[in-house]
Amino acid sequence: RAPIVLDSDPGLDDAVALQYLLGTGLWDLKAYLAVGGNVPAEQAFRNARGLARAFGIAADVPVHRGAGRPISRVEFSADFHGPTGLGTEVLPDSTAPEQTECAAAALVRLSKEYEGELTVVAIGPLTNVAAALLLDPQVAYRVRHLVFMGGAARVPGNTNPVAEFNVWADPDAADIVVSSGIPYTMVGLDATNRWRFHRDDLSRLDAAGPGQRLTARLMRAYLKSYEDHTGQDTAALHDPLAVGVASDESFVTAETGTVIVETASHLTRGQTVFIPGESDRSYDYPPAISARTKHTGRVALGAGPRDFSAH
Ligand code: BDR
Ligand code: CA
Repeated sequence: RAPIVLDSDPGLDDAVALQYLLGTGLWDLKAYLAVGGNVPAEQAFRNARGLARAFGIAADVPVHRGAGRPISRVEFSADFHGPTGLGTEVLPDSTAPEQTECAAAALVRLSKEYEGELTVVAIGPLTNVAAALLLDPQVAYRVRHLVFMGGAARVPGNTNPVAEFNVWADPDAADIVVSSGIPYTMVGLDATNRWRFHRDDLSRLDAAGPGQRLTARLMRAYLKSYEDHTGQDTAALHDPLAVGVASDESFVTAETGTVIVETASHLTRGQTVFIPGESDRSYDYPPAISARTKHTGRVALGAGPRDFSAH
């Protein structure tokens, strides 16, 4: 089993992503990092500890508290995931002692301990990953692969017409990450909007066991939120798809190219602009942007042929 770190702002679909990661049997979870996003940082940490306990994560897998606030914004909370971020669930706290090492420091340390082997899946704002890269830019060359859920290359945003939530929530963090040289795959709305959870899936979850019964409650709240906020009767499984892509890129159709994050404009801050192709190209961008195009990544542009509900 390969070493992995999950960085998350739990979050209803974040919870499912964690359960899915544990269920694949492919990964050796080295740390679970909490980050503010769907809920403020401290609530994200509480939720992460609660989920670690609810899903039976071994006591020796540490849960780390994330950055105190985003780099780009003052702390905020979104209402999509309900008052606690897990709908209305307040989970019993983990019995493990609280970690004193913060998420960014843990990521720097683990990138050294598992140099060349470590996969990082980030399914919230990229604040912790950016903080780790600021602390130690060599993290970019030690991590084997970063898969992050965020951005929208060719489809509209979900927070405003151009920006996806995780990038909108901390655009400077996303900019630091995609221009760092870290090998990354961006799993944005182009792909995740296509992986839907249906109301019919609830009964199968309910029947599967106590861990899944919690997930079923969370997914019921998620479906309701989708209905209330978007009028849609199915819900996009954004974060679980990023976990899927970490083990198998064929979950999505992806292309190589550069992602540039808009960090300056009041109107379009958090937009991800995707420039397809390798970095050596003839476009005449202003120098501040050309400097960024030297780092390419993989960008998911659609969902692959697999049926997610089978997983
Ligand atoms: C992303 O935003 C959050 O609300 C979800 O958990 C997911 O990570 C989708 O835009
Ligand atoms: Ca999330």
